[in-house]
Amino acid sequence: MNDLSNKTSTVRIERFETLSSTNEHAKKCLENGDRSPFWIVSDEQTGGRGRQGRDWVSIKGNLYASTAQTINANGGKLSGLSLVTALAVYDAIQQVSRSSLELTLKWPNDILINEAKLGGILIENVSVPDAQFSHVVIGIGINIQSSPVVEGRDTTCLANYESFVTRDDLLAALIETLKRWIKRWDAGNNFTEIRQAWCEKAAPIGAHLSVRVGQERLTGKFAGLDENGALKLELKDKSIKLITGGEIL
Ligand code: BTN
Repeated sequence: MNDLSNKTSTVRIERFETLSSTNEHAKKCLENGDRSPFWIVSDEQTGGRGRQGRDWVSIKGNLYASTAQTINANGGKLSGLSLVTALAVYDAIQQVSRSSLELTLKWPNDILINEAKLGGILIENVSVPDAQFSHVVIGIGINIQSSPVVEGRDTTCLANYESFVTRDDLLAALIETLKRWIKRWDAGNNFTEIRQAWCEKAAPIGAHLSVRVGQERLTGKFAGLDENGALKLELKDKSIKLITGGEIL
């Protein structure tokens, strides 16, 4: 384990060669009493986790990082954190990339280039007894050097765009952009600004969407996000369906 804290501001960063999952490790640290914020980074993961119980293939060369954060919000407000994180990832990549990239955000928290997945975010709550605050682990995977083959999905990596990003520069940028966006979000009190910023970087209103919710598959048009960050899908009969958990296909 190395300490990278000289690379960035004052936040604690722990770096590993191999971990099962940086999210898992960060959760254990929190449960053992470590105080957030802190970051965990690993060169590779042997049990990397994606959303909806999927694996996240984690070979060397890409960014696998998790941060533990304490947020003065819960319930509906906390759901905005995934959009906040996606905005931070977007800004961090743009900041360090040496080429111009056409990044877009896909609900709830994917980062795409030309519709291919470049990165993903997995947010997990940690049950630390605390009446007032929520303790969360935010896991971020960004494909820098290689894009894993994922069945049914196009994937890409920054190296495909001659972006020449180093992992530590990307991490340093991400630590700062996430801090900034969490502050702007203001524990959910300024979600309007977050929603607007996110929508500017996502597919345009009216774009055709196909969404999987559990076993159900819904098609319709993107109609924006509601005040909690749920996806608004306009169905054929013009009614609006709110999607809080699911996946755009
Ligand atoms: C997704 O399915 O899109 C979310 C992927 C999240 C992957 C990251 S890699 C670092 C952190 N550790 C994990 O086990 N998962 C997240």
